[in-house]
Amino acid sequence: MLRIDQDEILPDKWYNVISDLPEPLSPPISDSNDSSSIELLNRIIPAEILKQEFTFNRYEKIPDRVRELYRIVGRPTPLIRAGKLEEELRYKGKILLKYEGGTVTGSHKINTAIPQAYYASLEGSRSVVTETGAGQWGTAVALAASLNHMKSRIFMVKVSYDQKPLRKTVMELYGGNVVSSPSQETEFGLGLLAKDPKSPGSLGIAISEAVEYALKNDLKYMLGSVMNSVLAHQSIIGLETRKQLEIEGEEAEVLIGCVGGGSNFGGFVFPFLKSSKDIEMIASTASEIPKFSKGEYGYDFLDSAGILPKLKMYSLGAGFIPPGIYSGGLRYHGAAPSLSMLIRNGRIQSDEVGEPEVINALKVFARTTGIIAAPESGHAIATAMRYARKNPAAKKTMVLNVSGQGNFDLSIFNKVGL
Ligand SMILES: Cc1ncc(COP(=O)(O)O)c(C=O)c1O
Repeated sequence: MLRIDQDEILPDKWYNVISDLPEPLSPPISDSNDSSSIELLNRIIPAEILKQEFTFNRYEKIPDRVRELYRIVGRPTPLIRAGKLEEELRYKGKILLKYEGGTVTGSHKINTAIPQAYYASLEGSRSVVTETGAGQWGTAVALAASLNHMKSRIFMVKVSYDQKPLRKTVMELYGGNVVSSPSQETEFGLGLLAKDPKSPGSLGIAISEAVEYALKNDLKYMLGSVMNSVLAHQSIIGLETRKQLEIEGEEAEVLIGCVGGGSNFGGFVFPFLKSSKDIEMIASTASEIPKFSKGEYGYDFLDSAGILPKLKMYSLGAGFIPPGIYSGGLRYHGAAPSLSMLIRNGRIQSDEVGEPEVINALKVFARTTGIIAAPESGHAIATAMRYARKNPAAKKTMVLNVSGQGNFDLSIFNKVGL
């Protein structure tokens, strides 16, 4: 019986928001007049992923094999009522949690790692390359590559590599090969290390290294966020949530999630954009990386070295080196073009929370739900707590996307004690 319910919840199509945006999405562009950085995408990204990147189709069928792998890694993920948190906050409405930390790798990242690895292996790849911030994406890639009989090489941002040694062990356990970034394995990394041997790294730098490495070694590259195709794969979060709410007879009135490059947030809220106009949508970022309040909206590079094309998005500048906050997955200068557009036109609101408030929110959350959430998700949790405290009588049903679990991030509490 349970199996049937789960099958009913797990969608058989991904949703692509592009044709439902208020204006046409500006295409990626090369820096110079040539189209070299666009053409290089053809060399490093599986053809099927590129097709999905530029499609206007609203829905894309999820291949049977990918659906099967989704089940293996723990989809559908649960929707949980956080009753004790409601009591703690004296909130009169309901707080529901979509818990992506329930997947075997501990976050939403596996939702796109699986299809990207699947298409790479279908197209004959033996190995994939990627970057990782906090390690959640690298963990997902390591497992997705192994599940598709491939190897993986992962450039991990140095500050997280040092802060989270167990993450490296997990990636290696899943079959990944992990390098600290900036590294000595690429020209770009060598150049940065020559200038600053203690560089903490950034996601933008790690992306450049991974792309350079993929180009040099003729390997496929996997990107964990920002791209349209990634947000479409992540729509499985919102599609499942919609179905689960329908089964429970509930309606979402406020949706909250955190934003690094925008994939868990976009995947969570976009499937709700058409269904109801009144749903409040709040994207929570780090005040240490204030892309929506202090970033500029315009074309900027996806990666720090400027190897990949420019995208029209909110950005703090591709050379921005973020402070070493624990939420490694939020340490990115930009945000997905579709999400940036919807923030720009006011459909989606944003909020920024600093690390001390996040740590506190994580503690309250752990003690009222039992869930040790990822620091990145802690930003969404803190924003939800702000909302509940500001509007205690609101009686609105709030759905919070908890993008990952934080069992490998416990050292965040060393900063302040428990
Ligand atoms: C648990 C978790 N949540 C959120 C993010 C932010 O990424 P995105 O905005 O693409 O969902 C990350 C990125 O690594 C993450 O690991």
